[in-house]
Amino acid sequence: MATVSEEIAALRGTRPATFRTLLRDPVFSRLYRAILVSSLGDWIGFVAVVALVTRIGGGSAGFAVSGIMLARLLPSIVFGPFAGVLVDRFDRKRLMVIADVVRGIGYATLPLIPRLPWIYAMSFLIECLSLLWTPARDAMIPNLVPRRQLSNANTIALATGYGTLPLGGIVYTALAGIGASLGGGFEYFDQNPQAIALWANALTFAFSAWMIQRLPVRAAARRPRAGKLGAGDAFADMREGVRFLKDHAFARAMTVGIVLAFTGAGAVMSVGPIFAQTTLGGGPTAWGFLVTAVGVGLALGMAVVGQIYKVVDKDTLFGLAILGGGVALIVLAATPNVALAAVVTIVMGAAAGATWVTGYTLLHENVTDELRGRVFGSLTVLARLGLFLSLAGFPLLAQAFSGFDVGGPRLALWAGALVMIVGGIWSRSGLSKSRLTRPRPLRLFPRLRKTERRGSFISFEGIEGAGKGTQVRLAKEFLESEGHDVLVTREPGGTRLGEHLRDTLLEHDQSSVDARAEALLFAASRAQHVSHVIRPALEEGKVVLCDRYLDSSLAYQGTGRGLGEQDVLSLNVWATQGLFPDLVILLHLEPGRGLSRIEGDQDRIESEDEAFHAKVADAFLRIAEDHPERFRVIDAAGPPDQVHGRVREELEAFFPKDSEEGPG
Ligand code: TYD
Repeated sequence: MATVSEEIAALRGTRPATFRTLLRDPVFSRLYRAILVSSLGDWIGFVAVVALVTRIGGGSAGFAVSGIMLARLLPSIVFGPFAGVLVDRFDRKRLMVIADVVRGIGYATLPLIPRLPWIYAMSFLIECLSLLWTPARDAMIPNLVPRRQLSNANTIALATGYGTLPLGGIVYTALAGIGASLGGGFEYFDQNPQAIALWANALTFAFSAWMIQRLPVRAAARRPRAGKLGAGDAFADMREGVRFLKDHAFARAMTVGIVLAFTGAGAVMSVGPIFAQTTLGGGPTAWGFLVTAVGVGLALGMAVVGQIYKVVDKDTLFGLAILGGGVALIVLAATPNVALAAVVTIVMGAAAGATWVTGYTLLHENVTDELRGRVFGSLTVLARLGLFLSLAGFPLLAQAFSGFDVGGPRLALWAGALVMIVGGIWSRSGLSKSRLTRPRPLRLFPRLRKTERRGSFISFEGIEGAGKGTQVRLAKEFLESEGHDVLVTREPGGTRLGEHLRDTLLEHDQSSVDARAEALLFAASRAQHVSHVIRPALEEGKVVLCDRYLDSSLAYQGTGRGLGEQDVLSLNVWATQGLFPDLVILLHLEPGRGLSRIEGDQDRIESEDEAFHAKVADAFLRIAEDHPERFRVIDAAGPPDQVHGRVREELEAFFPKDSEEGPG
């Protein structure tokens, strides 16, 4: 059975959001090929550079390799904060193409100038360019695929970006083998066994540049200040990015969640090998086995996450998945053998995969284009720093804990789990504070504004000719004589727009108005009225007397027109953002008597037949019975003075005299 949203999608001719349709999409498949090839190249390059440096370093190889790690890390700190600013300022496609070309050239020069300082300088430059490329890609994805495909696109982008890591090692080994076999004939390759791998890597970047150059990126609606960038602007842009993270609980929650999850993952990566080999007694192959299990879990989590969204909202899932990952890590650290550990590791990997894709998708859905570069930029930088700190820190922790019976690695992993759990809780509470835009079919969700209302809101309801107008006037005089600041207003109307709508709605020769159109127009008038007149007056502490309000729509459109009270209520709760009167005075009268009181021409609604007015009168009474806390029903059959006497009693009860501070 199709769900409502599936039915709507079918009516609109929307293609389903499957991996297949996404990969077949000519635009996305270009991006996909670019990511696949260039990240494969990146990993090959990484392995090759380490091998190259080891060879050049000779006796102090370890030292030389640390230099590379430093050259790769440093850009995150010194350049990372600016990368996002550049990504937001300049044409993202062009940045990516330039980054690819320059990285390609950089790698190509390495075998030609095999000196440590040059390799360090190039590694630094290449890493800076990667810090531009990745956030630019992340920021661009929403301009390339339809919104409904964001989570699939993130799955594919992240999985290919990192999934090529093991492949990179294999391809490097193969290429180095080719280099070695050529070595016999060419002296150059004999001395530079890494050259082929590095040049192949340069070619992958050229390919990526070519693919990206051909991407038709949809222009973003708002990219205001593209172009030149002075130093002052850069700092201003950066401050704007920081302010965004500070002001938006959701963006902060996501960032902290993702970074802490990465930090936890770093604990596994760094402590995992000792844990598998020594604590679990799995021997040298155990770690490889667990890594495979993580990979399987990641793939699984990423593949099914799109299905999970159908039952769990993304913002709920995000925090839960991080928590789940933390709990799985606790269990993992307690397992006695490798087989059991592998099973738990799959679960943990799945949680990590779900977290990752969900986090990116939430950011894609909720961060506007102009800020996306900075948000993804800071995410990239912070995640790298978290990962690095944990790669360095957790092994030390394991060492420090080694005196305990359970073993240092277990304790260090538990510490990592704790970090993840804190991240999960943090994100959950951050996300629950902010309501993300979640399109849901056929339901209108108001953001219920419970403002501190100092004033009081009283509406008068009743059928035609019940005498509301007179009673509102008398009530105003009475309340003013009691020292209240009173505002009288009416519906439809009360604002310029509202009065226009009133004329349109009540005009006689508007012969046939669709019931839904009518309900929407009344609600439109009300929305304007609430935001421009009623709320401001209440905030100033006034007593607002309103001749008809929301309950008229429930009675007339909901019941009289048969639209259904529930739908009309939803519509009006949305229109008023949840503003209900504190007191409703219902002037009750038999419909026949009311209509006979009307002098002169009847308007469009007044001239409905008697059955219509009878339904409306019944509806008012029923609503009053359902809500005795707010409603006061007053018989309006008598002379105005007598009715006013009753109204006065209710008002006196509502504003008790003895309260010294006045109305409350
Ligand atoms: P009403 O307030 O009775 O004005 P007057 O007393 O000047 O005729 O008229 C407004 C008409 O609009 C009335 O027939 C009821 C109708 N109405 C609705 O159908 N739905 C609503 O939500 C509101 C406010 C009014």
